[in-house]
Amino acid sequence: MSGPLVQIAPSILAADFSRLGEQVATVAGAGADFIHIDVMDGHFVPNITMGPLVVSAVKRVTTVPLDVHLMITNPDQYLEAFAQAGAATISVHVEATVHLHRTLSRIRQLGARAGVAINPATPLDAIGEVFDLLDQVIVMSVNPGFGGQSFIPRSIERIADLRARLGGRPVDIEVDGGVDETNAATLIRAGASILVAGNSVFGAPDPAAATRALRRAATS
Ligand code: DX5
Ligand code: ZN
Repeated sequence: MSGPLVQIAPSILAADFSRLGEQVATVAGAGADFIHIDVMDGHFVPNITMGPLVVSAVKRVTTVPLDVHLMITNPDQYLEAFAQAGAATISVHVEATVHLHRTLSRIRQLGARAGVAINPATPLDAIGEVFDLLDQVIVMSVNPGFGGQSFIPRSIERIADLRARLGGRPVDIEVDGGVDETNAATLIRAGASILVAGNSVFGAPDPAAATRALRRAATS
């Protein structure tokens, strides 16, 4: 069956960190397209998670590209460290970035795919001037900071609106927060191409089966 391209990015925020290597290998074996890594600094969001050290540790155990989501203030200061740690994609928040054009250019110079993440309350106009510098947009479908939150339904219209605004540009739209088998197909139909899934994959008894089930649901 052919349909829109669906890429699955399990988020290790919901993984068991005492056996992180094994959990990454499990979803990689199930065909994950990216491993999503949530970096939080306790300033931009009210939670603290992981840094370049964890990115380089994951890099050592998988060939699946690493999708690094920076939820930090002053991301420019850390771009090089995350690129060196092995990030394939680096996304910064538009709300945390003063010179977005410069930041995105720098990410590409460092050899990574450039992404911008946008919070549920931020108008899409905030990123309209940088479409040609983008490889992906992360449309946040929860307020960032924690896994396991409920999906915000308005995100579906935002994805469709963004897809229209992007015209034919080859920019991935990644949707992040509360994605599961019940909304996956709707999100893909609206124009998303990458589904981030934390709880719905690593919170499941069998994360490999959950990864495959999410892809099946998304293409149904
Ligand atoms: C939230 C993070 C998400 C999170 C998603 O701030 O950016 O990537 O891991 O987790 P779930 O899929 O459980 O909502
Ligand atoms: Zn994320």
